[in-house]
Amino acid sequence: MKKYKDYLIQKKAEGTKVTMLTCYDYPTAVLQDAAGIDVIFVGDSVGTNMLGYTSETEVSMDDMIHHLKAVRRGVTNAYLLVDMPYKSYDTPKLALRNARTFVENGADGVKLEGMRENIIKYLVDNEIEVVGHLGLNPQFHKRRAVQGKTIEDATKLIEDSIALEKCGVMALVLELVPEEISKILSKRLAIPVIGIGAGRFCDGQVQIVNDILGISVRKYKHVKKYENYREQTEDVFRQYAAEVKDSTYLDETHVNHLAEDVYNDLLKRIANK
Ligand code: KIV
Repeated sequence: MKKYKDYLIQKKAEGTKVTMLTCYDYPTAVLQDAAGIDVIFVGDSVGTNMLGYTSETEVSMDDMIHHLKAVRRGVTNAYLLVDMPYKSYDTPKLALRNARTFVENGADGVKLEGMRENIIKYLVDNEIEVVGHLGLNPQFHKRRAVQGKTIEDATKLIEDSIALEKCGVMALVLELVPEEISKILSKRLAIPVIGIGAGRFCDGQVQIVNDILGISVRKYKHVKKYENYREQTEDVFRQYAAEVKDSTYLDETHVNHLAEDVYNDLLKRIANK
C-alpha cells in the first residue's frame, strides 16, 4: 500500500511510530521498501556519505536529482522525501521551481532546513508537501553541537516548531536536541516529530543508513549500529584480492565450457593459423 502524507499524520494520531531512513541508491531503496520503512529519504547527506564531499553545502540540485531518480525506481510503498540542497530555496520562486523539479522526478515531498516561513508557506500554497527541519541544521551550522540547551534556546526551538506547524509543514525533523524538548513538541504538535539525536520520545526516528549499517567511520552517541559493514566489506575485498592473486577465487562450479567436439574442432581449426 502506497503511503501518503495522511498515512503519516494518522500514525501520529494513533500513537504509532514513524520509521524513516536516508537512502541514496536503488538497491538500498528496494530493501528499505521491502522492510516497510515509512519514509525513504534522499538526504543531502548523500554528499558526505556517497559523493566524498566534505560538506552538505557542496551538494547540487543535479546531485539530488540523480540520486532521487535511482531511489524512486526502488520505492513502491514508502513516502519518498527529498532534501532541498543548500541555496536551492533562497527565494520563494526558486524554491518552488526546484521543489517542482523534485516532484516531477518522483518525490512525494521536500524537506528544508531552518525558519523559512515565507518559503514554506509559498510551497504549501502551491501544493508542495513540506517537512521542516530544526535543531541542528547542517547546511547552516558550522559546528555539530546539541541545540536548544539554554532556557532561551529551548524556548525559541519550541516557539519556532509551533510556528512551522502553523506554516503548514506536514512533519518536523528535529536534529540533535535534548530529548526533553522533542518530548514536549511530540505532545504539543499534531504533525509527526521525527528525531535524529533527539531522544526516545519523538513520534518517529530517522537515521543515516550508512551509520546504522556501520559503513561510516564516524561514531555518534545518537546512533545504534546494527552491523559493521565497513570492516566486513573491506574484509571481503581483501579476501577477493588474495584469492584472485593465488588463483583460488574460481572453481569448476563457476565456469562455462565448450562442448568437447566443438573444442576439438576449434583446436584443429586454429592449429594452422
Ligand atoms: O540529509 C540528511 O540526512 C538529513 C538528516 C540529518 C535528517 O537531513
